Amino acid sequence: MSASELLRATIFHTPADAFLIPDALRAHADGGVLIRDGRIVAAGDYSRVRALDREAVTTDWRGGFVIPGLIDAHIHFPQVRIIGHLGRSLLDWLESTALPEEARMSDIAYARQTARAFVHLLASHGTTTALVFGAHYASATAALFEEAAARGLRVVSGLVLSDRRLRPELHQPPDAAYRDATELIARFHGKRRLLYAVTPRFALSTSEAMLEVCQTLRREHDGLRVQSHLNENVDEVAEVRRLFPWAADYMSVYERYGLDGSGAVMAHDVWPTDAELERMAAGRTTVAHCPCSNAALGSGIFPLRRHLSAGVRFALGTDVGGGTGFGMLKEALQAYLMQRVTQDGFSLNASQLLYLATRAGAEALRLDDEIGDCQAGKAADLVYLRPEPGSALAAAVETSDDLSATLAALITLGDPGCIRDVRVEGVSVFQAVVPS
Ligand code: GUN
Ligand code: ZN
Repeated sequence: MSASELLRATIFHTPADAFLIPDALRAHADGGVLIRDGRIVAAGDYSRVRALDREAVTTDWRGGFVIPGLIDAHIHFPQVRIIGHLGRSLLDWLESTALPEEARMSDIAYARQTARAFVHLLASHGTTTALVFGAHYASATAALFEEAAARGLRVVSGLVLSDRRLRPELHQPPDAAYRDATELIARFHGKRRLLYAVTPRFALSTSEAMLEVCQTLRREHDGLRVQSHLNENVDEVAEVRRLFPWAADYMSVYERYGLDGSGAVMAHDVWPTDAELERMAAGRTTVAHCPCSNAALGSGIFPLRRHLSAGVRFALGTDVGGGTGFGMLKEALQAYLMQRVTQDGFSLNASQLLYLATRAGAEALRLDDEIGDCQAGKAADLVYLRPEPGSALAAAVETSDDLSATLAALITLGDPGCIRDVRVEGVSVFQAVVPS
């Protein structure tokens, strides 16, 4: 018996930066992905890939699509239950909606239940890798890591650190934060498919002593990632300027404590200065662009063209629960829509949207040697989508004779109901129950 599997479907992936390489999209109408021992051996036209291994068992998904596992570059696990509280702006929403729910994570049974639901929702939406804000409690953050490991997902996360301006039960003294984070790093960083990210919530809620703890953690351990929020909302930006009078701008607060550069992912960046963009590009700090959240919280419109012009890299994040759900294809569509109605917006094409939902996230997390597209040697993290018979997607796909247009239709209409099978290293982490 061969240990290889050959998936047969229409395949889309972007093995290069779709903003730099105009034809970054690889599309194969009758495609094959050959998998052995959890790795991609080859991806391309079915007949060519078939010839590489006559023994491989074919999984016939013709009529459906295979894309790389989706990568969510910004999401909050304790906020699963508060999606859809519309009508508020960031600081007001935090106080009234997000923080009370986050305080409930002190109850470990509740936190574990939440972590399990969260991980299931990632998998069932085709998200195989996520950069996740943990909880303010070490035990709840550990529960997230454990549930992700049990499910087999790739999760990069960390204890959320804050010592002011939230609510007292969410604050930790910096020395306790250091101790708890160090313990979590020892338990989870680099274990299974998990990595640790130093996670100051945002400059507003972290004193300089806490930012120093973050800097120390990053110095003391190899390969930690960093995540936080940046320039999301005009009132937040003004308050950060007031709290850090020595800082020229918001980003320089993080820079002073070594929380920038490759492996650092800053969510939102709706209101950057040119100087910040210039320094972020030079240092390779990445932005997590969260268009659904930016609209839902009224934060503003992401200055995408300015990021591109400055050379700042960005990927997509759902920002659940400020955002509107787990769907990364929906997030890509929202990015497209908002840019379309923005003066000086950038008209994103299907290839760029797929790139932003997959490979760009892998690059942001410095995991692009391992995941993000279907090149030979990469982990077989894949999503299989199939249009429901009679659906608008089925109709769009049937009549399309252009694979870019088909991909655009898939991004526009590919809701979670289309997701049939989700693989991490070739193994299913989610399979839809299809009525027979
Ligand atoms: N800034 C600080 N915390 C949060 C959060 O939970 N969500 C969003 N969107 N922004 C934040
Ligand atoms: Zn966020």
